[in-house]
Amino acid sequence: MAKIFISTALPYANGPCHLGHLRSTYIPADIYARYNRMIGNDVLMVGATDEHGTPIAVRADQEGCEPIDVSTRYHDLILEDIKSCDISFDSFTRTTDEKHYKIAQDYFKYLYDEGLIYEETIQQLYCENCGKFLPDRYVEGTCKFCGADARGDHCEACGRALEPTELLEPHCLTCGNTPVIKDSTQYFFKLSSFQKTIEDYIANNESLPANVKNYAENWLKEGLKDWIMTRDMKWGIPVPIEGAKGKIIYVWGEAFLGYISSAAQWSEKSGKPWEEYWNDYVIHFIGKDIIYHHSIFWPAMLAGHGCKLPDNIFAGEFLSLEGRKMSTSKNWVVWVADFVKNYESDLLRYYLTVNAPLNKDTDFSWDDFQRRINDELADVIGNFLHRTFTFTHKFFDGKIPEYKNPSEDDLAFEKAIKELPDKAGTLIADMKFREGLVEIIKTAKAGNKYFNDQEPWKAVKEDMQKAANCLYLSNQLCHSLAILLKPYIPNKADEICEIIGIDEATNWNDAKEFLETGHEINKAKPLFKKIEDETIAKEKEELYKNLDASDVEDKEESDEDKSNKKSKQDKKSKKDKKAKKEDNGDKMDLISIDEFAKVEIRIGEIVEAEKIEKSDKLLKTQINIGEKTIQVVAGLAKRYAPEDLVGRKVPVVTNLKPAKLFGTLSEGMIMATESAALLTPDDCEVGELLM
Ligand code: MF3
Ligand code: ZN
Repeated sequence: MAKIFISTALPYANGPCHLGHLRSTYIPADIYARYNRMIGNDVLMVGATDEHGTPIAVRADQEGCEPIDVSTRYHDLILEDIKSCDISFDSFTRTTDEKHYKIAQDYFKYLYDEGLIYEETIQQLYCENCGKFLPDRYVEGTCKFCGADARGDHCEACGRALEPTELLEPHCLTCGNTPVIKDSTQYFFKLSSFQKTIEDYIANNESLPANVKNYAENWLKEGLKDWIMTRDMKWGIPVPIEGAKGKIIYVWGEAFLGYISSAAQWSEKSGKPWEEYWNDYVIHFIGKDIIYHHSIFWPAMLAGHGCKLPDNIFAGEFLSLEGRKMSTSKNWVVWVADFVKNYESDLLRYYLTVNAPLNKDTDFSWDDFQRRINDELADVIGNFLHRTFTFTHKFFDGKIPEYKNPSEDDLAFEKAIKELPDKAGTLIADMKFREGLVEIIKTAKAGNKYFNDQEPWKAVKEDMQKAANCLYLSNQLCHSLAILLKPYIPNKADEICEIIGIDEATNWNDAKEFLETGHEINKAKPLFKKIEDETIAKEKEELYKNLDASDVEDKEESDEDKSNKKSKQDKKSKKDKKAKKEDNGDKMDLISIDEFAKVEIRIGEIVEAEKIEKSDKLLKTQINIGEKTIQVVAGLAKRYAPEDLVGRKVPVVTNLKPAKLFGTLSEGMIMATESAALLTPDDCEVGELLM
């Protein structure tokens, strides 16, 4: 059993969480934590809000309040966001906690006493109009490396850390004046002396992902320079050295220690030493914008203190929104709190995981979100669970049937079920969260196919053991899904457990155990609702309201964009049509019972079905409606294979005027739902008239 220290990058407490935070950091960290707990590892997962630094001070200035008011407000909101998405922190604290101040100051003092932090008088930007030095975000200008707009401490475009005096054309954020340069004494960390240490660390660490390694190697090539560790500012942790009055520790010189102070507070409560976790295995989950800090600065600070360096750093790439860069200032963003008001958080956890591997930039789009939830969660997983549970109740009294004389199909499916826990588990352990999930879905898909092939609805009449084997194995896969989905969609996993009648999953390897014959399951209930087109249209409307005309022009159009746009327009016109149809529906007059009575509906049995060439939607069927057999063309091909339909009973409208579809005569209409799902009147007799 390993002890694992998991941390998530500390969000600045100057805004709530948006989807980007979840995608790059919280969701992957949580999947990893939950999985490790389930395989018996002892996990300590920590986080905190990063409450110092100029972003918060600037915001407080703007709002006319104290920085602590801002950070308290956002700490509370962030905590809500995290809870609403079931991120399973063992400790989530604040960098304004007393304990954090003490740990950060001790750390600074230690490095100072070791001679690793030294004093130097340097030139700094000073705004004469505001009467203050301009650290970090108090000043903006142009990055000297890449020419992009940059803040005083960091260029988002090229990812480099900057000094305010390195900015070209600097201006004061508060008043816009051009600052002057003034002498000031600051404290520097001897980062340059760690060049070799960090080079070795990066070169010899096998587990570091490629993006982290590449970035770090490039920066190392430029040569490490000493790093300024203090600021002339009020908001922050005072420098714990005599003669350093009015100076605070630079936010990046203390925020990392939030990992440790959060853990230390957990230790106080739990009585367990956090060091055991750190010394066994540490992994930091971060966004890619702070790879520099975590791969270079933090390991150097740790090395200076004689501490063990992180075993792994996992950096999620960026998430864009509807093809554009997210921007909180333009409100081009989806806030977590808004999202969870309308959708279950498991849907978000699912989508943000399955959408793309973490080492690739990816996009959140409402259409794609809807598609994946409807086609994958609802149609694949939801459908498999539901048909298994309902069938078990209907034909086996809600009990797991006996498994005997398995066929080749049975054996192959049994093997797939048995292999799934290790397959998915290995991928998760290897930080391939998306791939693990895809493996699970693929197996559920195979489950649906197996179920169709076995035709248990037919087998119950002809070969009861075949149906029993099918339902025995299908229930075993449901059981397995209830466990393996837990790290990904914990609430849904619990709901599945409840239906199966087992305790909430805590042990990954339980997925390898089979339910016993005779085990009784509870009533099925729908687990995944489809998301309606109208709902998504509303979301998009809300979001696009925030774009003004200039933003639209701003966006360069690549060919790819254009073709995307075209397909979106196509989709849109389809949706418009649909909306119109529904509008008319609302206004349409009600029909009388007499009018309804004109429709003749009978129960028919499909006796033959085949594909219609050149159509991917239509099937030609022969239906026995009692007194005769009629030919009906039905739009069922997207959902059912022809062979799955034979033998099934369906309601059919039998007095429609015959018509030709794709050149094929159709003498009636099979009644099905809008999504081409059949209605299955199992208890009726063929030829029976509906009224
Ligand atoms: N608050 C920083 C950011 O959002 C991240 C701090 S992570 C820590 O960019 F390592 F410093 F804790
Ligand atoms: Zn100014």
